Amino acid sequence: MASSNRVSRRDFVKVTTAVLSTIMGAVVGLPVIGYLIDPALKAQKSDTWIPLGPLENYPIGKPTLFTFTRSKVNGWEKTVNSYGVFVLQKSKNEVTVLSNVCTHLSCRVNWHEDVQEYICPCHDAQFDADGKVLGGPPPRPLDKYEIKVEDGDLFIHFVEG
Ligand code: FES
Repeated sequence: MASSNRVSRRDFVKVTTAVLSTIMGAVVGLPVIGYLIDPALKAQKSDTWIPLGPLENYPIGKPTLFTFTRSKVNGWEKTVNSYGVFVLQKSKNEVTVLSNVCTHLSCRVNWHEDVQEYICPCHDAQFDADGKVLGGPPPRPLDKYEIKVEDGDLFIHFVEG
């Protein structure tokens, strides 16, 4: 005579199988889910020193464009961005490095030797050799990089994020 409160062997096997399946699913599934979403959760900000080559290669008194590319991984997406900076060696070992990105809407400025100004082709902004706004819509000067010189080579501190 079976009591209604007793668990049948069949129900016991069903419950035990369900519990073990859930535990095994969690043991196998959670690391996989973590692996798949981890890149999307990681912060992508980075900073590094970018070498611009020997300082002596940059003429005194003339802004010189230097370009480089950086790869960036954002989640599962990899992008390659190109950057440009103007190196101005005002006198021996007095160096300014400016971004060539206009502070208005991010067009690329060019150095115009004839007027001694950086000019933005998009809305005709003008900046002086130190990056100061001389005219046009930009709200602030061109971005200036922190620099260092090691063994005659010039580096800029580059923050990406
Ligand atoms: S983007 Fe340079 S002036 Fe507008």
